[in-house]
Amino acid sequence: MIEKSWFAGLNKKTTVAVLTGAGISKESGVPTFRDSDGLWKKFKPEELASFDAFISNPDLVWDWYQFRRDLIHKVQPNPGHFALAKIESLLPNFTLITQNVDNLHRRAGSRNVLEIHGNIDKNYCVKCQKRHDGTQFNGKKAPRCDCGGLVRPDVVWFGEMLPEKTIQAAFRAAEEADYFFSIGTSAYVYPAANLPVIAKMAGAVFIEINPQETPLSQQAHHFISMPSGEALPEILRILESIIL
Ligand code: APR
Repeated sequence: MIEKSWFAGLNKKTTVAVLTGAGISKESGVPTFRDSDGLWKKFKPEELASFDAFISNPDLVWDWYQFRRDLIHKVQPNPGHFALAKIESLLPNFTLITQNVDNLHRRAGSRNVLEIHGNIDKNYCVKCQKRHDGTQFNGKKAPRCDCGGLVRPDVVWFGEMLPEKTIQAAFRAAEEADYFFSIGTSAYVYPAANLPVIAKMAGAVFIEINPQETPLSQQAHHFISMPSGEALPEILRILESIIL
């Protein structure tokens, strides 16, 4: 399934970029969004993951994010997260771009992480923009900033702009990549789903890891139909054997 020959010539000078989605956290016990048991099968995104939804029902939206935070704080990174952190340590030119807000890449030791959809453990005031990152809000009700404004999760909601500097860095990483991996994403949400295409058009070897085909699978040079928690440790072993 995974051929060592796909990585021939890969060395310490090789530039690698990786895009991850919710699928990489599935084996940690974190639900994805669009799988048959995913979050969007139980909840309506427009009722929970948009600014309008938050303003019209701040306590409902805040409580839903508390539910997701509590779940994420109880789980651990899985072998896929740890393998990516180890691959990063082998390659000086490595960028991890994630759509996930669950912090599991950083908890697994990844350092150069571009969180293009934000981070569920960070918050800010909608009125004065004051950050409330470290504060552990425990209530079910949307907290208020000392200015009186509502405090919201620092995640990108549907219809919102992505953090400008972060997404620009992600596009640069895709354009400069010699190898681009798309891992555990359904490739339905833009602009993230553009990144693998930009990388391939710029000459990268495009490898996709996903148990299911996605709209990008036909364009991949190599499609690895495996869970990332199994595929990534195998790729790590290959890279450790060829990178001197
Ligand atoms: N390993 C790898 N991939 C997996 C695994 C696994 N063990 N299990 C499931 N997958 C794949 C599924 O086949 C699916 O293609 O993970 C993908 C998850 O897709 P989505 O649930 O759509 O998640 P994602 O692509 O990250 O969604 C993108 O949509 O709702 C927004 O902001 C949210 O960041 C999210 C964005």
